[in-house]
Amino acid sequence: MNMTMERIKTGIPELDNILGGFPAGKTILITGDPGTGKTIFGMEFAKSCCEQGIKTAYISTEESACDLRLQGKSFGWALESFEEKGTLKFIDITGKRAAEIKSALSISMDAQKGNFEDLIDNLPEGTRVLIIDSLGNHTSNLMSFEFRDRFDLLVYNLAIKGITALIILDSVTSKEFNDIALFSAYGAIQLMKKENPYTDRRERVMDIVKMRNTKTPIQLITYEIGPKGIELISASDVPPEP
Ligand SMILES: Nc1ncnc2c1ncn2[C@@H]1O[C@H](COP(=O)(O)OP(=O)(O)OP(=O)(O)O)[C@@H](O)[C@H]1O
Ligand SMILES: [Mg+2]
Repeated sequence: MNMTMERIKTGIPELDNILGGFPAGKTILITGDPGTGKTIFGMEFAKSCCEQGIKTAYISTEESACDLRLQGKSFGWALESFEEKGTLKFIDITGKRAAEIKSALSISMDAQKGNFEDLIDNLPEGTRVLIIDSLGNHTSNLMSFEFRDRFDLLVYNLAIKGITALIILDSVTSKEFNDIALFSAYGAIQLMKKENPYTDRRERVMDIVKMRNTKTPIQLITYEIGPKGIELISASDVPPEP
């Protein structure tokens, strides 16, 4: 039973029925192929945290804050109002700025290895939830043992700070790195596109690969990206958490 564990609503009602929310203070991974909805998932969680009054930071390595706001708007999410209140902070390290930072620091293998700590050392005061979208392009130069050390250190530092983290791993990240991260994280959800052999149609499916201290369904869950964000279609028959 997990009744004593504090949880934070994911923002996806059907998923909250299954999990009871993400375990607070833990690191959860979101993995998946391009276009499966990882960013939308991350933003939906950020929105949910803000609605719960939890101070949230969203580090974006691929999409500008402007693009993320637009993506949020397409679902009717008023993210700017949370930014104005100081509940939400987009930390945009994409494109030109990232290139400038890289050349200014002349990021070599060694500096690259230090990236994970840099990311979390500069969060706004009082941040309780962090979304990193994504870690893939910060890891490509690492050896697997380095990735393991760095990822473990990141998870450890987040835990020390009591930060609940959603770390998105994109498909740039190798299978080996994915496996290492899966092992170290407290929970992991994989998003996929799959052929349904019965209908011959492609479907979006979610695999709750692991979620410690939580009863999870073994079945894949079909989902759609609808007008309000991610909607689960067929959840499993696992009873909801108390
Ligand atoms: N407002 C919307 N309504 C319905 N579907 C949408 C809407 N906005 C985006 N989508 C769909 O959601 C998909 C997934 O978007 P998202 O950016 O979250 O994927 P991702 O897994 O983060 O991809 P990447 O690996 O490129 O970062 C898009 O490819 C698009 O098909
Ligand atoms: Mg994305």
